[in-house]
Amino acid sequence: MYLKKNAAIFVRESFHKLLYIYDSIVVKFVKRKDGVDFRKNVLPENLGEDYDYDKFVHYVPSRSWQIKKVIKILKITENDSIIDIGCGKGKAIYDFSNYKFKHIGGLELNEELAGIAKENMKILNLPDVEIYRDNALNFNNYDKYNHFYFYDPFNFEIFKTVIHNILENYKKKPREITVIYQHVRDHDKVLNEIDGFEMYRSYRNPVRIIIYKYNPSRKG
Ligand SMILES: C[S@@+](CC[C@H](N)C(=O)[O-])C[C@H]1O[C@@H](n2cnc3c(N)ncnc32)[C@H](O)[C@@H]1O
Repeated sequence: MYLKKNAAIFVRESFHKLLYIYDSIVVKFVKRKDGVDFRKNVLPENLGEDYDYDKFVHYVPSRSWQIKKVIKILKITENDSIIDIGCGKGKAIYDFSNYKFKHIGGLELNEELAGIAKENMKILNLPDVEIYRDNALNFNNYDKYNHFYFYDPFNFEIFKTVIHNILENYKKKPREITVIYQHVRDHDKVLNEIDGFEMYRSYRNPVRIIIYKYNPSRKG
């Protein structure tokens, strides 16, 4: 029984690793024929003066199978809207566009990446997607959105400030909020410290992903 369980884990993890290696090669080198660019070719040293390398994470795109699983868990309806905070070239946004979201947005600090994301949305004929070029530390234009997706854009401290910005926006417009963080290091501590956030799911795919819901009326 013990051996069988370990063998199953080994096979699953090996499969994930192979998928990751294959995907990394495609993601790094292959530019799509239609001109869409989701490649990982903007290095941290090219990210511009406003980039604080100790706090911000450079561009790496989400993988479609990771987004697929997140969407399955969220059970979205046509009243749901999502924003990708640190959207890079818009790969996760593109994956979100395959589902019935009312609004889809992306926020990106780096000008070059935000420009590529806008160009990608044009080629992909997604005119309703909104790309905002701003630093998440200062941004608060969240009224439209109830799902907040992060693929590891920054460290614990910045995440804490951004979550407080989102909660400021919530005071103005109360609604059920979901925070999805992919590649968690210590980011869950931020959410655990705030009354009203409850963990909904936590899993590995292959990096750690957490989904928290915010509903302050549930807690005393
Ligand atoms: C790991 S990539 C994720 C890309 C995209 N979300 C995806 O899933 O395909 C993290 C992105 O966050 C952006 N970022 C880092 N700090 C940011 C900040 N303070 N405000 C907005 N975007 C930021 C980076 O430039 C980078 O494009």
